[in-house]
Amino acid sequence: MSNAEQGLGAENWAGDMGRNWLANLQRFESMIAPIGAALLTHAKFKPGERVIDIGCGGGGTTIAIGRAVSPGGHATGLDISPDLIWSCGARASQGTQSDVLFVCADAATATVTGAPFDRLFSRFGSMFFPDAKAGFRNLRRMVKDGGRIDLGVWAGPQENPWLQTMMGAVADYVTPPETPPDPHAPGPFAFADTAYLTEVLEQAGFGEIAIEPCLRDMPVGGAGATPREAAEFILSAMHLAGEVPEEKREDAIGKVADALAPHHVPGKGNLMPGKAWLVTAKAI
Ligand SMILES: C[S@@+](CC[C@H](N)C(=O)[O-])C[C@H]1O[C@@H](n2cnc3c(N)ncnc32)[C@H](O)[C@@H]1O
Repeated sequence: MSNAEQGLGAENWAGDMGRNWLANLQRFESMIAPIGAALLTHAKFKPGERVIDIGCGGGGTTIAIGRAVSPGGHATGLDISPDLIWSCGARASQGTQSDVLFVCADAATATVTGAPFDRLFSRFGSMFFPDAKAGFRNLRRMVKDGGRIDLGVWAGPQENPWLQTMMGAVADYVTPPETPPDPHAPGPFAFADTAYLTEVLEQAGFGEIAIEPCLRDMPVGGAGATPREAAEFILSAMHLAGEVPEEKREDAIGKVADALAPHHVPGKGNLMPGKAWLVTAKAI
């Protein structure tokens, strides 16, 4: 199943998609927190490092990196969504954090003040460039020679049982696409194919590429969500397989909630395995 089959290929992150992520920030961030924690541990940030966080979303990882590189370091969060970047600034100031900065720009084309950085990081924010190869050549310009990058990207839908289960639950309510879509098209699963990801990285000027699997139980639909709450969120905010017609919405929510129920752990949420790739490379 490809990005486009799931209605995930043509996302408008600078507009509606960014606002949707912001409106559901706690659910989205808590759902991917276990993989994010593994990625941050793997990255081993050190005090004094200057880091750029690509596609920083609501800024949760940028703020964590800012703390990890303090004292003496700095984290810049870059995102294409003005709504998200505005919220990041407010969030950082609530924690009175001065070692972070947020910039609204397209990472595929922007020249960022402060570049080249020591390190580049991205949790699920690097798979959406319309031209991945050109976008990554621009990311290369943001990192100093010898600088390390750390990316978290989704493994394929077939390797993510949570997604298979959700797709199965809504299958009767959505219309599948007529033509087979491009598996490398921009979207969450654009780099599921690690050979393609390696090609994108190498042509951009990255070497010493290491890609390892990361399998974690994730609270599907957000930490602490009941099956019903998670199902409502999935149907309204995750656009798993295109739009479910309004008249079928209640039935579809029921089916998704039934599929989640066996995985529900009170207080924690609906825990199901998710698989990502943790990617490390060096700017050469
Ligand atoms: C799946 S969200 C991940 C957000 C954040 N990294 C996190 O883990 O919470 C993808 C993010 O990438 C951003 N994004 C997509 N395309 C981008 C681009 N060309 N330049 C900068 N940010 C982009 C989106 O606005 C969105 O915030």
